[in-house]
Amino acid sequence: MKLDNAIVLITGANRGIGLEFAKQALARGARKVYAGARNPASVTLPGVEAIQLDVTEPDQVAAAAKRCGDVTILINNAGIANVGGFLPEGSVESARLQMETNFFGPLRLSQAFAPVLAAHGGGAILNVLSIASWINRPLLGVYGATKSAAWALTNGLRHELRAQHTQVVGMHVGFVDTDLTRGIDMPKSTPAEVVTRALDALEAGAEEVLADEVTRQVKRGLSAEPGVYLVAP
Ligand SMILES: NC(=O)c1ccc[n+]([C@@H]2O[C@H](COP(=O)([O-])OP(=O)(O)OC[C@H]3O[C@@H](n4cnc5c(N)ncnc54)[C@H](OP(=O)(O)O)[C@@H]3O)[C@@H](O)[C@H]2O)c1
Repeated sequence: MKLDNAIVLITGANRGIGLEFAKQALARGARKVYAGARNPASVTLPGVEAIQLDVTEPDQVAAAAKRCGDVTILINNAGIANVGGFLPEGSVESARLQMETNFFGPLRLSQAFAPVLAAHGGGAILNVLSIASWINRPLLGVYGATKSAAWALTNGLRHELRAQHTQVVGMHVGFVDTDLTRGIDMPKSTPAEVVTRALDALEAGAEEVLADEVTRQVKRGLSAEPGVYLVAP
């Protein structure tokens, strides 16, 4: 799916990776970029159309699908990450909270926009997943579970949307230098690097993008013995 002349909706487009998607979509010739944000006033990038879109609010999702009936590419980027594993007190509440944004958000958006994409020839959905969809560590254990769920959603949607010719791309990526990873002392990619790889993959017709080297290593490790997810951190 080419960006040139496309009409793109990005969730969480006011900052971080979502903002970079908006910049690069414009640079690649998108005809219109809807920048979804909980607070539209926080969208300051020239050339985009800010829309109010909290992905946990069904009414806002429905309103966005009505207003943005010309979308040809949906980028499910909005996400939250709360640190912590499964055993500490509060992990159930943390899981519910993160699932609302990281799983139910893209699920709601995909349901709402599938008919819009179908009406314009199929289009594409790109879901921002994570290396944490595949390996789970206590630092981001609960978060990882939400990204595993989002990966399953991505794989299921791909089959359900095949008949209407919608390209469904899963973007896996390790640490990226954004607000989300502030305070985590690990090697990080820049948003520009990983978004460039993701949009190159989208434009090449791919169904999955491994946006950095560590993610490529982990993917290879899934079928190693022992599997990379069995190896203690
Ligand atoms: N950074 C990383 O290392 C990394 C690695 C793998 C995957 N990811 C994924 O990449 C995506 C973007 O993350 P980021 O690193 O760019 O994080 P970020 O800088 O913290 O930005 C998160 C974005 O999501 C938005 N958001 C959060 N909850 C929302 C909701 N309920 N409705 C709509 N928007 C909401 C935020 O909006 P507000 O400004 O209103 O809070 C913000 O625009 C996420 O899905 C994340 O899980 C990030």
